[in-house]
Parts: sequence; C-alpha cells; structure tokens
Amino acid sequence: MAQLWGGRFTKETDQLVYNFNASITFDKKLYKQDIEGSIAHVKMLGRQGILSEEEAAQIVAELKKIKKEVEAGTLAISDQYEDIHSFVEAVLIERLGDVGKKLHTGRSRNDQVALDMRMYIRTEVAQTDELLKELLETILSIMKAHTETIMPGFTHLQKAQPITLAHHMGAYFEMFKRDRFRMRDIYERMNYCPLGSGALAGTTYPLDRDDTAKALGFYGPTLNSMDGVSDRDYVIEYLSALSMIMMHLSRFSEEIIIWNSNEYQFVEIDDGYSTGSSIMPQKKNPDIAELVRGKTGRVYGALMSMLTTMKGIPLAYNKDMQEDKELTFDAIDTAKGCLALFQGMLATIHFQKDQMRKSAALGFTNATDAADYLVNHGVPFRDAHGIVGQIVLYCIEKGISIDEMSLDELRAVSPVFEEDVYEAISMETCVNKRLTVGAPSKEAMERVIVVLEKELAESGFLTEEWEQKLLFTP
Ligand code: ARG
Repeated sequence: MAQLWGGRFTKETDQLVYNFNASITFDKKLYKQDIEGSIAHVKMLGRQGILSEEEAAQIVAELKKIKKEVEAGTLAISDQYEDIHSFVEAVLIERLGDVGKKLHTGRSRNDQVALDMRMYIRTEVAQTDELLKELLETILSIMKAHTETIMPGFTHLQKAQPITLAHHMGAYFEMFKRDRFRMRDIYERMNYCPLGSGALAGTTYPLDRDDTAKALGFYGPTLNSMDGVSDRDYVIEYLSALSMIMMHLSRFSEEIIIWNSNEYQFVEIDDGYSTGSSIMPQKKNPDIAELVRGKTGRVYGALMSMLTTMKGIPLAYNKDMQEDKELTFDAIDTAKGCLALFQGMLATIHFQKDQMRKSAALGFTNATDAADYLVNHGVPFRDAHGIVGQIVLYCIEKGISIDEMSLDELRAVSPVFEEDVYEAISMETCVNKRLTVGAPSKEAMERVIVVLEKELAESGFLTEEWEQKLLFTP
C-alpha cells in the first residue's frame, strides 16, 4: 500500500478498503496523459516563478525518462500504488527527493484526473473518426461498383421496390457520415483544459492556465473550476455516439447475416471472415457480424452506467466519478474493434449479383410501377392499385411474375394495358425512372456519389494541425 495522503490518519487502511478504493489496475492506461499533463504543469510553474527554472527542468527531464521507461517496459507500473497519479509522483520523489515533492504544487488529483481523462477521450474521438472514414471509403467503393446491381428493396422485410446495391449501401454511408459529424462536434465542445481547477476552487498560486491549455493542445482553459473537475459530459456524449455507431453496425450486421443465409444468398462472406462448425462440416457462419451485433449491448451498457453514475453527484468531485473509466475503456476498445473488423469483412465480401437480380424480379417489386403505368394512362391511382392487386393475386395462383403474363391476360383485367407495359415494368425501368435526389437510378446515384466523394476527401477533421496537437510530446 502506497498512498499520498497518510498525514492526517492514525491507522492503516484496511486492505479490502484499500483495494476497493484503488484505481491503478485500470487507470494505468492514462500514464501517458498523466505524465504529459504533469510536464506542461511543471513547465508553467517554472515560467511563473512558482518553482525555480532549474527545479522545473529537473522534474521535466525525469518525467520524460519515466515515460520512456514505462513505454520501453523497463519500469513496470506497480499495482502497489493507489492510482496512476500516485505512482508517477512516487517514482519521481524516489529519484529526485525533495524536488520531486514539488510536482503537485498548485494541483489536485481532481483536476489532474479530469485532465487525463479529457486527453485520453480526445485522442480516442479522433481515432474513431479515422476508423469511420475508412469504413466510409469501403462503402463508397462498393457504391461506385454497383450503381447497376439491381436488388430488392424491403419494407417490413418484405420485398417492396427494386433498388440497387449502391443505393442500399448509400443509406449506411449517410449513417456513418453522421457519426463522423458527432465526433467532430464532441471534440469541439470538450477541448477545453480543466488543469488549474485545483480540488474545486482553483488555487492561490499564480498559475497561467492559458499557457498549460495551449501547451496541451486545448482551445483554452475551462471557465469554472467546480465544473472543470466534475464535468464528465464529454464521456457521456462519446459513449452515446459510440452507442449510435454500434447501433448502425448492428443493423448492417443483421443485413449481412440475412443476406448470407442459405435462403437469400445475396452475399458470400470471405473465408477469412467466417468460421466453421465443430460438428457440421458444411457450415460457414457469419460470426463476425453476429459478434458485432452482440457487442452492441455492451456499449449501450457503458452509456447507461455512466448516465446513472453521474445523475446524483453533487458538485464538485466525488469518488463516484472514478467509475467513469473501466466500462468506458471497454466500450471504446469494443467499438473501435468492431469498426475495424466490420470494415475488413465488408471490403472482402462477395456480392452475388445474379441472385439479387433474380430475387428482385420474383417478388412483384414492380407492382407499384404497374399501377403507375395505369395512372399515366388516365386511371385514378386507387383504381390502379386495385387492378394491380388482382393481377398479383392471379400471378401468385399461377406461380409467375407480372411480366410473364401475356398481353391478353393483362388486358383481361384492364384494357388500358398495351405492349409498352413490359418495358415500363422492367426492373431497369423501375430503378432508372427514379431520378429525384436520393433515389436509386444510376443517374441520381452518380450525382450523389460525386458529392460524397468530395465530402470524404475534405472532411478529415484530423488536419495536420490537429494531428500535431494529438501527437503532442513535450
Ligand atoms: N482515481 C481517482 C479518479 O479516477 C483520481 C482522483 C482522486 N481524487 C481524490 N480526491 N480522491 O477519479
């Protein structure tokens, strides 16, 4: 047991209490942010004359060494310490003696952990954005290749109207595009530095909070020290956005699973992304898609947990907030892993174009267009709907599709039908007459693809300047 605060205690902490209270087993993940934050803090203390320049330089040099050693694996982060902050400070004091004891001047673990967590989440938000971008690139390349790949579009999982694979993929493009906007939005709101908030009421030392905020790549300091130490909104916003990403991935996974089924056979998942059965030799299972669908609950769980943790906390810092870490870290790793794996699966999937085309043709997906044909020849829509309903019933009884009916058969139901009806209800016509923005025709899709391509090329919010900030090494 090694703790920073033994002074006012007369008795050792009970071991169980100590273990319950300690966070080192999971907050060791924050070592990099912790050390970088300390370096910026100490440099500022030196510049402000709160520590001498020599003391500051000595501490900074040692902190850099500690970071290098942790990264090289020559200095193990020992679980004997209460948390990562205690560990770093204890090592420093062990090596520098009294000078090391000056590190924590004008700082509390409350603003320290608030800073560490913000820096950690900030980087993750940017990395999530990159993963989303890669997924969008994969989706876009499928869209470009399949503007003429006809498939059935569904409502209620019933065949509805013919669309194209490009069009179907485009719907997911929009979802993940919104997810990227959410990343940028979270980043913009959270990128303010809580360091200098102290325990809750700032500090009496003449800290330069602008200086540390700038040095650490923040837009500026947070403007209320109570909020600075106790705000975890950005964690909740990020978990909420990750939940949304998982929801999108889960819907997509569900479709892949259906499309990969023996009944549909719209896709074949690459061998590298499927698994077999230990008993049934014929099996090739869509396990990756199923796992992505399944892991969604885990990420939602982290969001619910965090919302609940925060809901009763009075200002300012309370130890409940230590619960912001384990499930959040797990949710981040889960969601990022799912994004990367799903992208790989999608990039290698094989689309069975013939099967999709056949499925569209066999499901009366041109019934609306048959009704529209009648409307274009003066039949009121409600009557046209009834006529085509009768035609569909007739086809079901005979086991044929509408375009397999002879003109005589069609005219027996409505004399309005002429030879040109076959052209009007072909799958190609059904798709390619839908020309409005956002509709599936090749022409409309190609116009949209140009826009999406442009958006994707421009929208990386990790510009060089951003990257510089994120790769901050003092
Ligand atoms: N381990 C704590 C956390 O994660 C660090 C802050 C502790 N501050 C305190 N006053 N006990 O929230």
